[in-house]
Amino acid sequence: MRLFVDTADLEEIKTAVGWGVISGVTTNPTLIARAGRDHETQVKRICELVGDVSAETVTEKRDDLIVEGRRIAAWHKNVIVKVACTPDGLAAGKVLAGEGIRINVTLVFTVNQALLAAAVGAYFVSPFVGRFDDIGEDGTAVVRDIVSAYRQQGITTKVLAASLRHPVHVTQAALAGADIGTMPFKVLESLYKHPLTDLGIERFMADYRKTQEPQAIKR
Ligand code: E4P
Repeated sequence: MRLFVDTADLEEIKTAVGWGVISGVTTNPTLIARAGRDHETQVKRICELVGDVSAETVTEKRDDLIVEGRRIAAWHKNVIVKVACTPDGLAAGKVLAGEGIRINVTLVFTVNQALLAAAVGAYFVSPFVGRFDDIGEDGTAVVRDIVSAYRQQGITTKVLAASLRHPVHVTQAALAGADIGTMPFKVLESLYKHPLTDLGIERFMADYRKTQEPQAIKR
């Protein structure tokens, strides 16, 4: 499973890229607003740091979405245009995909919505795990079912598990067969952490230091 970071914060993205573990970024209007910059400027900056950057459309009607999607796609070759899973979003997505623009169908909560996304030629489909869990449903099960349906149908749209809120979600998304998992920076950072790793380093360092003491060197 490829790992993406779900943020528009340049410092977080630079750090995550420096760790060598992420190969993409997802953004949405909430994350862009949090970064405090205009959409175009921020997405272009992110695209200079990493490939596969999802940028969301904010219009609602098919024709407006087509114009907006083309404009966003022209910002940078790394951009993937996000459209919501609505009749207008999908109709616009089909036109954009037909023009060779990569689209990410977002706000997906069912296998049927994922089938619609595939039908219009989506490059990514984004089931929102955490938001589904929030209403008492099983977000991970939806990812697993979408992966299974796509495999059975020979669909090549990539499953991007989104709205991953904690490390267990990341493990579950991988076990469910997601192609990509996107998560906030804090969750990415938490993937490294284990008390036994810290304890192991502490002990190895202490033992190493002992070998550096003069009396430890036997001649
Ligand atoms: C992904 O594309 C979305 O931006 C994101 O994963 C949503 O996460 P949230 O439900 O925690 O806001």
